[in-house]
Amino acid sequence: MALSTKNILGTKELTKDDIQQILDTADSFKEISTRAIKKVPALRGKTIINLFFEPSTRTRTSFEIAGKRLSADVINISGSTSSTVKGENLIDTARNLEAMSPDIMVIRHHCSGAAELLSQFVDSPIINAGDGSHEHPSQALLDLLTIRSHKGDLEGLKVAIVGDINHSRVARSNIRAMQTMGMKVRVVGPPPLIPVEMERLGVEVSHNLTEAIKDVDVIMVLRIQLERQNQGLLSSLREYSNYFCLTSESLAHTRDDLLIIHPGPVNRGIEIALDVMEGPRSLILNQVTNGVAVRMALFYLLLGEKNANPN
Ligand code: CP
Repeated sequence: MALSTKNILGTKELTKDDIQQILDTADSFKEISTRAIKKVPALRGKTIINLFFEPSTRTRTSFEIAGKRLSADVINISGSTSSTVKGENLIDTARNLEAMSPDIMVIRHHCSGAAELLSQFVDSPIINAGDGSHEHPSQALLDLLTIRSHKGDLEGLKVAIVGDINHSRVARSNIRAMQTMGMKVRVVGPPPLIPVEMERLGVEVSHNLTEAIKDVDVIMVLRIQLERQNQGLLSSLREYSNYFCLTSESLAHTRDDLLIIHPGPVNRGIEIALDVMEGPRSLILNQVTNGVAVRMALFYLLLGEKNANPN
């Protein structure tokens, strides 16, 4: 069954069936990364362009690895080494890349809406690898895969998303995807970091970490985005940490089967204590592993599973 969308611009366009299919396909691809020869011919002859205008460790590398594990040809372009530094705009960049017949393009950009703009000017499918504070759909999908792998089912699970919701594309993509999958979402943080639209979205809001995490199945800790804190929303990082850093003490009254996730990169000791980050409930590196499988699934499903050979 094909996905209901040609592009992956955000989770708000994905149906429950789409998400289920992406997670099921990703599950079936996990095993490929455990083989001695980590490669299948599924996308042989296909060309993937990764266009990254913002720094990235996890997303960029895992999109590249995902393409290569499916035998596609993968080209990586950084904003800083592209002709955008000479003044070429994003639309002209996209059109010129399109003229070289890629089969799919992945884009990360600091401007919200950049992936959607690109999709209006090129024929090949576009995957949004993070646009400003708007969406980061592949991160939300790998988070769901990680949770589903440990809980079996997503329906009815309670999640607390803690931290800088205001600037977080990860939070926005997760809230939409989690609600689509029947999960209940609560956001937790100081008032200046919680956008007003949260309650309208049907999300519970809390400013008390210890209270907000008592009954949840999953805590998603967000990075304080130091590079986007130029509006003076936080008085100090120390004050933020005093109230909202996830520590062993704050976890004292939580469920025994609680899962802790974080999209990375982590500010150690600011939003999460070192012992919690490296403790038995933390799935942070498991999320990174699942990122490869989810991105393989996205390439495979968008590039026409009918023509591909997954073995
Ligand atoms: N989670 C995430 O997007 O990490 P990177 O910025 O390293 O890609």
